[in-house]
Amino acid sequence: MRIAISTGGGDAPGLNAVIRAVVLTALQRGWEVLGIQRGFGGLLGEAQPVPITRDAVRGITHLGGTILGTTNRGNPFSWAVKRPDGTVEEWDRSDEVLENFRRLGLNALVIVGGDGTLRIGHRLFLKGMPLVGVPKTIDNDVRGTVITFGFDTAVNTATDAIDKLHSTAESHQRVFVVEVMGRNAGWIALNSGIAGTADVILIPEIPFELDRVCDKIRAREAMGRHFSIVVVSEGAKPRGGVEVIKEAATAGRAERLGGIGEHVAAEIEARTGKESRCVVLGHLQRGGTPTTFDRLLALRFGAAAVRAVEAGEFGRMVALDPPKIVTLPLEEALSGHSGVPLDHDSLQTARDLGISLGD
Ligand code: F6P
Repeated sequence: MRIAISTGGGDAPGLNAVIRAVVLTALQRGWEVLGIQRGFGGLLGEAQPVPITRDAVRGITHLGGTILGTTNRGNPFSWAVKRPDGTVEEWDRSDEVLENFRRLGLNALVIVGGDGTLRIGHRLFLKGMPLVGVPKTIDNDVRGTVITFGFDTAVNTATDAIDKLHSTAESHQRVFVVEVMGRNAGWIALNSGIAGTADVILIPEIPFELDRVCDKIRAREAMGRHFSIVVVSEGAKPRGGVEVIKEAATAGRAERLGGIGEHVAAEIEARTGKESRCVVLGHLQRGGTPTTFDRLLALRFGAAAVRAVEAGEFGRMVALDPPKIVTLPLEEALSGHSGVPLDHDSLQTARDLGISLGD
């Protein structure tokens, strides 16, 4: 057997652990593993696929990033190239991906990615590519798995930042608005906000009203708490409003969210007179050493993906269904995104703790 592995989309802590698990599990079976670099670009001439040896995956479990490189711009079904005049040309190169896969004598491809990459994988599977998916994203928004790896590390990073901001917020009697990632899912904001004892948490699933946010800050002021911490998810939006977008969607790439934190901080200052600052955690949340939880999940996913290849379970994705790792059709996982359900007990917990959700 000769299999390949590629990592696509935004990186997430734990990718290297998956690569190591896939390689060691395959080598144990006497198989060969090729590394496809830079997402699907590595099957379109952007880089030469290389055999991954036992030595190449030594000592990488705890490292952030991905030794294979990644991109969130390379969709082979709408491959975009900028012309000299600035316009963008787009064309379908999926047949080329399949041809190169066959030319390399590969029996299967393991793709590690979020919903964008898994969706591309599903389309390639429908065109005949034997493929198994491994879900990854710090956003934790992939359906079908209770959790994705990378999420726990991102939440830890955000919680740590909130902890650190508490002391300066209190010393200066300021409001701090902390903007966290997550796209249209509020998981990072909700979990880090509760764990970091934020006063207000704004998530995409619950449109907020600035008056309610300011009510909370004023109520704290009246209680002698002259500072507040507001955690806002990058995809949060006011009731009746829309998300703040930093960069519009382009060919083969979703829009970039960002900027809601500055907006909320400016409005709080204007409405309450409290000095307010915004901290955008941004890509810090994607970096660093994966937590033990993320490493373990990534290693379990990687080994399970190879077992799925062995069993011929193509067009499927590995997933955590505690306590088991299962596989499910990619189609099922891609049938929607998994945001915070409005009846989730963490939302009730937040309310019970007196945290405002801005509604
Ligand atoms: O999906 C992961 C993620 O980090 C999102 O939380 C965020 O909106 C996006 O990727 C940022 O993408 P980029 O790396 O292109 O700025």
